Amino acid sequence: GLEKAALVAGAGLLLGACSGPQSALDPAGREAAEVARLFWVMLAGAAIIWLAVIGTAVFAGRFQKTPLGERAGLRIVLWAGAIIPTLILAALLTFGLRLMPVLRAGEPALTVHVSGEQYWWRVTYRTAQGEVETANELRLPAGRPAEILLDSADVIHSFWIPALAGKLDMIPGRTNRLVLNPERTGTYRGVCAEFCGRAHAFMAFSVEVMEPAAFEAWLARERAPAAATADAGAFLANGCGGCHSVRGTPATGTIGPDLTHVAARPTLGAGLLANTPANRRRFVSETEKLKPGVRMPAFGALESDQLDAIDAYLGSLR
Ligand code: CUA
Repeated sequence: GLEKAALVAGAGLLLGACSGPQSALDPAGREAAEVARLFWVMLAGAAIIWLAVIGTAVFAGRFQKTPLGERAGLRIVLWAGAIIPTLILAALLTFGLRLMPVLRAGEPALTVHVSGEQYWWRVTYRTAQGEVETANELRLPAGRPAEILLDSADVIHSFWIPALAGKLDMIPGRTNRLVLNPERTGTYRGVCAEFCGRAHAFMAFSVEVMEPAAFEAWLARERAPAAATADAGAFLANGCGGCHSVRGTPATGTIGPDLTHVAARPTLGAGLLANTPANRRRFVSETEKLKPGVRMPAFGALESDQLDAIDAYLGSLR
């Protein structure tokens, strides 16, 4: 009946959460695989303790009817209620602590600095040929350890890519270090895991684990200055360059996300919308409505030919 349908639906929801681009139980990297294994071992340990304690409680109920003698009863309570749980918890603690050095190992082949800002991510690749800045997307080569240096420009945020590793806080004035070993190519989702203000829930980013050659090609394209095919006039005349940088143009603002290759990014507004022409226009016109508390003012009051020109320009920044 209804209960059975609800149970099936509930189980489906639970199982559905075990895979997909944002699941800690569907690991795509070494660190996440360790975390997933830790979860299953902890779950098994907890299940054994639960069975022992509930079993003892059931036994205690029966015991009143068929007396075994006080000593035998005490022995059962001692083993199932204290000794077995203590041994299992000690084993789980040891297993968990073993992970700490494992998660910090690895000589990184790549360093990326990620700064959390209300409500987006400033991503800077530190390479031998200089820095390459992008925003709200992280691309990593598969099979190569990457060092992610995390900090914040305003309040505490938390950097979490469930498919790749556990989360780590981003704290103003402090640099936290996370090492990732992505193994499986694919598109994953990262999120802010610390409440940081009104648009906290809209602070996400896309993660692309790529073949190393494809990654190098992408980084070379990102490093290049903008090659816009549309006119920058409306973008500059309306002051967009005061907050945003478009490398190779007079737009050199550093308050908001770098837009040099914005049209080539998978999402818009930090994982909020798919990066389509319609959504770019919507984001520029209704910024505050889409992302409450964001520092960018909405430009919905502009003449529509100005909005068209800005949209055309942004869409040409590939
Ligand atoms: Cu940033 Cu929550």
